[in-house]
Amino acid sequence: MYIRAASLAVQDSKKAALMKATLKYLAGIAGPSGYGSKATADEVTEDSASFVPPCLTAIITGATSGIGFETARVLAKRGVRIVIPARNLKKAAEVKGIIQQESPEAEIIVFETDLSSFASVKRFCAGFLDLGLPLNILINNAGIFSQNLEFSEDKIEMTFATNYLGHYLLTELLLEKMIETASETRIQGRIINLSSVIHSWVKRDAFCFKQMLNPKNYDGTRAYAQSKLANILHAKEIARQLKARNARVTINAVHPGIVKTGIIRAHKGIITDSLFFIASKLLKSIPQGASTTCYVALSPQTDGMSGKYFEDCNESTCSALASDECEAQKLWRQTRALIHRRLYQLTA
Ligand SMILES: NC(=O)c1ccc[n+]([C@@H]2O[C@H](COP(=O)([O-])OP(=O)(O)OC[C@H]3O[C@@H](n4cnc5c(N)ncnc54)[C@H](OP(=O)(O)O)[C@@H]3O)[C@@H](O)[C@H]2O)c1
Repeated sequence: MYIRAASLAVQDSKKAALMKATLKYLAGIAGPSGYGSKATADEVTEDSASFVPPCLTAIITGATSGIGFETARVLAKRGVRIVIPARNLKKAAEVKGIIQQESPEAEIIVFETDLSSFASVKRFCAGFLDLGLPLNILINNAGIFSQNLEFSEDKIEMTFATNYLGHYLLTELLLEKMIETASETRIQGRIINLSSVIHSWVKRDAFCFKQMLNPKNYDGTRAYAQSKLANILHAKEIARQLKARNARVTINAVHPGIVKTGIIRAHKGIITDSLFFIASKLLKSIPQGASTTCYVALSPQTDGMSGKYFEDCNESTCSALASDECEAQKLWRQTRALIHRRLYQLTA
């Protein structure tokens, strides 16, 4: 009797907290950072001239559309040199033109890169490092949602390969450059992994590395959620390693909000269309969707914060599984072993 009453009280307080959070979101009420769900990327970086050092360099994946494009546009406007690894060079050239129309001084460098391919990511990193540029910011933003089971050229399920493995390798191959830049310039380096609130849908027993590489019963939403959970666990483990090395580089994960971009348009079907229609009040615009990334990338308020999860430009809580240090280390070790095996095969 007592236990039942206590559990009902917990349920009630959870419901109340959820209701409060939803109302806060809908009203766009600002959190401790001074920003809320309605803040745009332009707004959160408005005063950046007073705190952003000149000549920063940022690599932004997935900058040819949606949230990544808006992030690149706003960072370029704030004087950051932008490097775009893009699988579609024509789209990347258009994006470069649009950004330079608004910010004629903007320096934008494009590389042809397919994030789902280990060889392509490796080529991009070698090409970028050959330029001899510093690297202050890495935004692991590119992402796909695939309704059908597809495989990358490395024969790995495409969502996991693109959203997680490509970014893992990118981070690994660029990390020393970021640490070196930060120690030479005394400017803190920042890595941002784009995740999603959907990471919390993943149950512990459904998070199996082998299954994610080659799933038996494919479900697009599950694969997407697993890849977004992996993005947070990756940020947590790299943050731990960077702290242990006393490196001046931070890494955080962000949920950008639900934004009607190409990735959402991939969820076709009457049920999803109706759900999005009903939930349209909860959708963010693209400028609002890019705000948390830009805030974490540039704000002095996030200085020194690492291994955290942000939404609506404020630190937030991720699921218990996403906060599990052992799970993060296990995933990192499994990924490292896989990538090193495959890279060795590539060069052998
Ligand atoms: N939109 C949302 O509601 C939402 C919610 C939570 C999290 N997110 C996350 O936010 C991030 C950005 O998503 P978005 O909504 O802006 O999606 P989007 O508009 O579909 O943009 C995705 C970007 O990723 C690029 N990309 C995909 N596969 C690639 C590959 N193999 N190699 C190189 N680039 C590749 C795309 O390039 P192309 O232009 O060549 O297609 C595009 O630039 C994703 O990580 C997503 O998971 C989005």
